[in-house]
Amino acid sequence: MTENSQKQNRFLIELQPIGRRIQVPGGTSLLGAAQLAGVDITSVCGGIGICGDCKIRLVQGELTPPTLEEKDIFTEEQFQNGYRLACQAYPLSDILLEIPPESLTSLQRLQLESQQAEIAIEPPIQIIPINIPAPTITDLRSDFTRLQDELKSIVPSMKVEYPVLASASPVFRKAKWNIQAIFNQDHLVSIIPTQNPTIIAGLAVDIGTTKVAAYIVDLNTGVTLVQDGLMNPQIAFGEDVISRISYVINHPENGETSGSKVLQERIRDGLNKLIQTMQAEIEQKFAKQLEIVDAVVVGNTAMHHLFAGFPVQQLGLSPYVPAVSEASLIRARELGLNITKGGSVYLPPNIAGYVGADHVSMLLATLYQYRKELAYTNKAVVALDIGTNTEISLLHNRQIYSCSTASGPAFEGAHIQDGMRAAPGAIERVQITKDGKIHYKTIGDQPAIGICGSGILDVIAEMYYADILDEKGALLNHHPRVSRSGRFPEFILANEDETGHHQAVVVTRRDINEIQLAKGAIRAGIDILLYEAGIEVGDIDEFIVAGAFGTYINVKNAMRIGMFPILPLDKCHQVGNAAGAGAKYMLLSKYYRELASKIAHEVNYIELSNHPKFTEEFSKSLFFPIKYLP
Ligand code: FES
Repeated sequence: MTENSQKQNRFLIELQPIGRRIQVPGGTSLLGAAQLAGVDITSVCGGIGICGDCKIRLVQGELTPPTLEEKDIFTEEQFQNGYRLACQAYPLSDILLEIPPESLTSLQRLQLESQQAEIAIEPPIQIIPINIPAPTITDLRSDFTRLQDELKSIVPSMKVEYPVLASASPVFRKAKWNIQAIFNQDHLVSIIPTQNPTIIAGLAVDIGTTKVAAYIVDLNTGVTLVQDGLMNPQIAFGEDVISRISYVINHPENGETSGSKVLQERIRDGLNKLIQTMQAEIEQKFAKQLEIVDAVVVGNTAMHHLFAGFPVQQLGLSPYVPAVSEASLIRARELGLNITKGGSVYLPPNIAGYVGADHVSMLLATLYQYRKELAYTNKAVVALDIGTNTEISLLHNRQIYSCSTASGPAFEGAHIQDGMRAAPGAIERVQITKDGKIHYKTIGDQPAIGICGSGILDVIAEMYYADILDEKGALLNHHPRVSRSGRFPEFILANEDETGHHQAVVVTRRDINEIQLAKGAIRAGIDILLYEAGIEVGDIDEFIVAGAFGTYINVKNAMRIGMFPILPLDKCHQVGNAAGAGAKYMLLSKYYRELASKIAHEVNYIELSNHPKFTEEFSKSLFFPIKYLP
């Protein structure tokens, strides 16, 4: 509990994964706090503790003891894991809580779509239909020997995964000896009866710090059968990479309670739930069984390491090196991922501590696929994925220069007074017209409860172009919506009578400052790559913006605040989740796996923290540029 909260008996409630924070008076239930924050938790019984719908999980802080109603609903183990009913629990300190997806009435927007090209399908997975002679009194070979004998001309050095070996005999008999043998290279990973109508598929996953996108792809046709996503369940342990690494460093104990184990379990369990849902959807839709025989998982270096169980502590310490940068093939059962028993998970290489396999995957899908021809010319292409860390690459003259810049979580709504993630009620578009009128649009056209990243970027660009901000980011006096009634001046974006929680949604000087830091870091990264390649803004031929946030931003406004260089808009492309598209390519093609390793090996990684020009470029980029765009 903060000293301030104690004095005023007010508590700060942080609601994840929505990213809303609210101060409430003591005596407000967690359900009440969520309602005040405009976050809809399901509460069928109206808060009397009997429907059990308003489950939340306490991550940090102290709550009133469980009520009898809660004791009827939860087991001791669930209490130990932090589960409570939001309508029954009252804060005794500042609280960090996690709302499970089933308790939220509306879900956060997840960006799953991406531009995708057609690629040649040649996966590492091979499907071999065989008819094995059944044993007879004159043929007493073991089941496995007869399988081996049938396959030796096709896969001479066959290796069998133990769970496949252990379960093969009953499958042979059930299948009346007609099977499909599924190989990953020369490893037999699954045996499927031929008579069962089965879709043989692969799983591609992009683990983002905030969001996870997953795709199940038919390995015969290359078609994406279903795509789905979830908020990264690790959010409750830290919104950004650094805080999750700190969580691991601060929970060094061995065994089940170790920080790395906890975080690994959270993402594994989240993915397994997602696989289950997606599998059920496909089986129902196609009336066929689904066998997921292979997986490709990409993520930034920290997400990659946490998923794979590699140490992350060194990522938090200079010089921030990855534990593993090479591509890895890990048995799915060792990671606890529920795909076919003998299946493996392919993790593409990382480039550096803060440029991970997801960026390699993004480069694979953008520079090498769509822009393949550019790799052989002198054209210059910038490709970036904006997040808490923004990874930027510049392709020029057959060279790729890459860097990562600490843009912070402001575009995820964190460190912004009324910031929130892209969920219903978030202001996502803002326009200030010449007459000074403010127009905004919220996600789902719900009453406003906060501002998400694209909204905060818009409002700051619009304020600057409406002369409400000066080039240093200071609020000017003249606009009627600039209020000086509080300790600090603030811009009232939505009045309290028009919002969903009856509190004004405001932009403070501190918010503006946060965005200046974020956009300054991104622009400095771009300018340093241009400097390293010996070219200038005017030489850029294409500017590719990938990722969830990049999909929704107004590129022109990103230029107006100086986050992006000023370029003709037709040179800019917003390509969606390119890392997810790259993961699918690697699922479908051995060639793309090789290409991923080639890219990671060839990249000229530029470390910004000790780059001689970084401080100068960053300081320059904090200001808003001369107004140039209409
Ligand atoms: Fe029904 Fe909480 S709202 S149990």
